[in-house]
Amino acid sequence: MTESEIESVLHEDRQFPPSEAFRKLSRLSSEAEYQKLYRESIDSPETFWGRVALELPWMQDFDQVLDWSNAPFAKWFVGGKLNASAVCLDQHLSNGRADKTAILWEGEPGDTQTYTYKELHAAVCRFANALKARGVKKGDRVAIYMPMIPELAMAVLACARIGAAHSVVFGGFSAQALRDRVEDGGCTAVITADGGWRRGKVLPLKQEVDAGVEGIDSVHTVMVVRRTENEVTWKAGRDVWYHEAIQDVSEDCEPEPMDSEDVLFLLYTSGSTGKPKGIVHTTGGYMVGTYLTTQYVFDLQEDDVYWCTADVGWITGHSYIVYGPMANGATVMMYEGAPTTPHAGRFWELCEKHKVTIFYTAPTAIRTFMRLGDEHPERFDLSSLRLLGTVGEAINPEAWMWYRKVIGGDRCPIVDTWWQTETGGIMLTPLPGVTATKPGSATRPFFGVDAAILAEDGTELGPNKGGLLCIRKPWPAMLRGIWGDKQRYVDTYWSDVKGAYFAGDGARRDEDGYFWIMGRVDDVINVSGHRLSTMEVESSLVSHPKVCEAAVVARPDEITGQAICAFVTLGKDVEVTDALRTELNAHVAKEIGKLARPADMRFTDALPKTRSGKIMRRLLRDVAAGVESSGDTSTLEDFTVLAKLRGDGE
Ligand code: WT7
Repeated sequence: MTESEIESVLHEDRQFPPSEAFRKLSRLSSEAEYQKLYRESIDSPETFWGRVALELPWMQDFDQVLDWSNAPFAKWFVGGKLNASAVCLDQHLSNGRADKTAILWEGEPGDTQTYTYKELHAAVCRFANALKARGVKKGDRVAIYMPMIPELAMAVLACARIGAAHSVVFGGFSAQALRDRVEDGGCTAVITADGGWRRGKVLPLKQEVDAGVEGIDSVHTVMVVRRTENEVTWKAGRDVWYHEAIQDVSEDCEPEPMDSEDVLFLLYTSGSTGKPKGIVHTTGGYMVGTYLTTQYVFDLQEDDVYWCTADVGWITGHSYIVYGPMANGATVMMYEGAPTTPHAGRFWELCEKHKVTIFYTAPTAIRTFMRLGDEHPERFDLSSLRLLGTVGEAINPEAWMWYRKVIGGDRCPIVDTWWQTETGGIMLTPLPGVTATKPGSATRPFFGVDAAILAEDGTELGPNKGGLLCIRKPWPAMLRGIWGDKQRYVDTYWSDVKGAYFAGDGARRDEDGYFWIMGRVDDVINVSGHRLSTMEVESSLVSHPKVCEAAVVARPDEITGQAICAFVTLGKDVEVTDALRTELNAHVAKEIGKLARPADMRFTDALPKTRSGKIMRRLLRDVAAGVESSGDTSTLEDFTVLAKLRGDGE
């Protein structure tokens, strides 16, 4: 570990300019051109974005590019009307892409399906009509809780087509997490499947939905896609099979003209306090933002086979599996299962088989593959790859170098993309034909992104000074708010730093203007590239009858980036056993989902607190990481607590 740390410090000085071969064929290949476009996008955003927006098929032209008079509530492309599903599908029926493959899908068991744009359009229209027939209409919210099958993308686009906002809940979340989101969003319908394949087993999604929506009267429809022949229980009147519902509906469904600022979707994300936030994205700005970023960041060309390995249940899947790539008419690969099922080389096998050219994944996956060994990728022909990307957390230089060498054959540029559920699209990123990359840095801002490292008073910090990563100007794909809570939006994102958007990351900017993300500054843990709130994991632990108190912190983890470490105080006379550990883990999995299960659980009689009763998480973080506390401990109420904790479990 120490060795690699020293190594990574050395590697930070390395730079990888795009190769001549890549540059020659790429969309944008000169620094001067990037500078010119970037300057325009910052100095005259309305000219820049107005021009880009006109590349989309509008049903009614917008009359104003940006209305920021009610900041921080932005309105983009004011007065314009469009439909996101028509942007993704209908335009391609008449621009030469009708018979181009839109979705190239492979199930975990190895079954495959492909849809051309024409076929996908027809399927989405039927899906939309089936939803309409069940009474789903413009302005409704529909929860989608599905495995990674083509019908997931179709469900998303079908909702967009009829103007119902979708709220996709990742299939790995629990029934309870689904319930919270269905209730908060006031969803009236849920789309799910009888199951999905994951690690050779069937995930019983319908069963979770049954538990999740039990007693919620607003849910009038549960539409179920048959995927696994898994037995399901049925609630007559509410439940309907998708394959039956699409039988007697037409293949024609006119896309609903949506106002540019009509809600396209809600997507829930964790914050440091309170319940998950329903991040609101609207139609026009989001489509323009994802359209342009997909084009430039991935240097998308007509014959690319593009694979983003994220689940559609996360923002990455919304923006860079469905909306961005399809707005550009790309061939999108989708895979249902786990990266290592049935064997450790599965991803590479898929790259070879489907001749993937652009591959976008998470650092945690890269570290997993690194550990599994080079022999797995080496068994497959990866020469079709021309561009690699990462997202979700900072990538350590060692993993970056491995990715470049072993997967990219030293030939593919890597785009390390920084962004968030809230930003809707990529914010910091190399442009692959232009930017010389540095391992571990997301490099520079995308067009229109006025990113800066600020102090709390809003002043900009100099080179290499760590501070708060902020955005000073509105951008088209930005969130428009938190569902049902205007004030929380203002408080969470626009109040820490004067006049700027701040969503929790610390960073520094080097002498070349490159950004280096230093991680979250709030009580949010990034596990495998996904944000979890320590507070939520704590409250789920405390909701178990045997637990008195719990404190949850992050510790560094080689594979997942950060791992959850829980310090738990038990009720009187409760004995610490392996069975109890399993029980508490299962409890967290049930309350939130498996990804929130603590990697370490330490039982303690007391937690280190200040005299005012605040748990000193900073000290617990040091204990979890196994390092000495260097910071101030003078406010600690009882010093023996810390000593005991250090002794525990060693
Ligand atoms: C948080 C957002 C954006 C889709 C996936 C996660 C971290 C994301 C990077 C990166 C360093 C990154 C940040 C951010 N993050 N990408 N390239 N380098 N950190 O979406 O769940 O909304 O989480 O992920 O901490 O704030 P999310």
